[in-house]
Amino acid sequence: MADREKADGSAAWAADKESDGSTRGDACPLARMTDWARLWISGVLQPGDMAVDLTAGNGHDTAFLCRMVGAPGRVVAFDIQHQALQRTAERLQEQGTSVTWTASEGPPAAAPGALLVAACHSRLERYVEGPLRAVMANLGYCPGGDHALVTRTDTTCAALRAALERLLPGGRITVVLYPGHAGGAGESAAVRKLFSSLPPGEWQVMELAAVNRRAAPHLLLAARKA
Ligand SMILES: C[S@@+](CC[C@H](N)C(=O)[O-])C[C@H]1O[C@@H](n2cnc3c(N)ncnc32)[C@H](O)[C@@H]1O
Repeated sequence: MADREKADGSAAWAADKESDGSTRGDACPLARMTDWARLWISGVLQPGDMAVDLTAGNGHDTAFLCRMVGAPGRVVAFDIQHQALQRTAERLQEQGTSVTWTASEGPPAAAPGALLVAACHSRLERYVEGPLRAVMANLGYCPGGDHALVTRTDTTCAALRAALERLLPGGRITVVLYPGHAGGAGESAAVRKLFSSLPPGEWQVMELAAVNRRAAPHLLLAARKA
């Protein structure tokens, strides 16, 4: 991998993006930020809970959330890319999760299973009242999808603010950031600023990063104190 890497690590990290938006390059368990994100979420998510995936992509995180909340739980997953939601639906159906689609704004999902929302995640409040036990966001573009449909600073921050408001005490949120692609550094900085501003009396906020790879993905983890 090193021979394909630019000085800032960007080329390799972009080229090595897996279908769940994570990166490979190390066989070590928990080497991927997406693995750490799921580990953090799995510490609190219970059967019957409600969770949100702000970026459905290829459906790996949505499928994980659905397995964690089980048959009585609910997961709302957003994406602006039809192909991504289609892949997510297929993945969910393979694991036996019941799937509903919507593109129209309306009352929050009442039925158990997954609600796939074909809309920008910044419109979260139109689809989700909460309260939420867990929220995941894996930013950037969808590997194998349209790279032009990439997350953007303003809508990402709007979605995260709405998600943070709806998180239950004890609830957790993860954001995987990709500073290596065009626009990614600005988006990462804005999200980091947002999370840095959360009051420490109410929030525990941590960051996980490969400190020797400036443009590698990094992970923000936050928990609302119980
Ligand atoms: C890195 S992928 C997500 C990977 C996914 N979590 C998984 O487990 O496979 C990022 C996704 O965000 C989607 N996206 C970009 N902008 C968005 C927006 N404003 N609202 C919702 N989804 C968006 C892209 O279409 C893409 O599918």
